[in-house]
Amino acid sequence: MSAQPAAVPHLEIDGVSKRFGETEVLRDVSITVPRGTFLALLGPSGCGKSTLLKIIAGLETQTGGHVRLDGEALDGMPAYRRDIGVVFQSYALFPHMSVKENVRFGLDMRRLDKAESAARVDEALELVKLGGYGSRMPSELSGGQQQRVAIARSLAIRPRLLLLDEPLSNLDAVLRKSVRVDIRELHDRVGTTTVMVTHDQEEAMSMADQVAVMAEGRVLQMGTPEAIYERPATRFVGGFVGSPPASLMKLSRRFEGGWRFGEIEWQMEPALARRLDAIRRIEVTIGLRPERMRLVEAGTEGALAAELRSSEYLGGERLLHAAVGQERIAALVGGHLSGLPKPGEPVHLLPDADAVMLFDAENGERLDP
Ligand SMILES: Nc1ncnc2c1ncn2[C@@H]1O[C@H](COP(=O)(O)OP(=O)(O)OP(=O)(O)O)[C@@H](O)[C@H]1O
Ligand SMILES: [Mg+2]
Repeated sequence: MSAQPAAVPHLEIDGVSKRFGETEVLRDVSITVPRGTFLALLGPSGCGKSTLLKIIAGLETQTGGHVRLDGEALDGMPAYRRDIGVVFQSYALFPHMSVKENVRFGLDMRRLDKAESAARVDEALELVKLGGYGSRMPSELSGGQQQRVAIARSLAIRPRLLLLDEPLSNLDAVLRKSVRVDIRELHDRVGTTTVMVTHDQEEAMSMADQVAVMAEGRVLQMGTPEAIYERPATRFVGGFVGSPPASLMKLSRRFEGGWRFGEIEWQMEPALARRLDAIRRIEVTIGLRPERMRLVEAGTEGALAAELRSSEYLGGERLLHAAVGQERIAALVGGHLSGLPKPGEPVHLLPDADAVMLFDAENGERLDP
């Protein structure tokens, strides 16, 4: 029996690095993206997301490594030959051209015949639900509509890949949430493999099938939003995803047994103590998800004795900011709770033991399997 040939990955970023002079902006980045996937590149400002997107698009050249699409190396291929659609942060439409002319722009460059061009423009505008808007000028559209025209312009060329760099950042908070749904639904209709850059973890988690979390030019973890949230590979990832993100605190073993935050002792639940014992460390960083904390009575087993510093009313929920010794901890509790303690008063917070994350205090890597 002969072995099945291994399937060729759709988009393959293979050991890509990039330097600008002395500065290393991307370090050995490897990502494989199956066809039809919506991938988010998520990371803080300056971590190299846009640079990676530009390398895929052919607008920037890598210092090392390869980018392959359907098995074909794109290295050295000019951007216009790659059949990749790109929408940038500023979706700049040509203000003196109508919506139709804007969408047709990329097709004219490709010298398609008139009828074919017209059909594709109509199709692309239908896809972004702007079918009746072809003769409007950009100034007669809302920010969200302009943004969809920019996407239609890149879809009209029927790209093999759609690249979006912070496509929502020019929109106000309300519009951003609705366009987020529009873009995801569009992706599901068209099925074009999409790579979107964002520094907004909520955007990445809510829109993408796969999220690659980047920091300082490296991919720290790639996985489904659920995997990234439930099982962050490093302290950085745990502290970056979630809204609000996890509280990270240093926990030390007491000489007499048990554990403490600075000078504050913590009588944790036995199941958690066993997990910590199994790890055999003197210090660990623990990650506590605010939404997995409960406000409990003093004396409840496993509760952390803290001091309330402030609280934010969020409508359905209330976000408490408390201090345990020198450490800060956040807890998301029901917004309807009455008789809440006031700043300066003690609060007792019980973390859900299953949701407590443990990281190496030195290198930040996840500790338990
Ligand atoms: N043409 C360039 N010349 C020199 N340095 C550059 C150039 N382009 C980007 N950089 C540097 O590379 C690093 C990564 O930039 P990049 O634009 O990829 O970050 P980013 O993750 O997209 O950030 P942001 O979220 O702020 O857009 C930054 O430190 C930036 O200053
Ligand atoms: Mg950028």
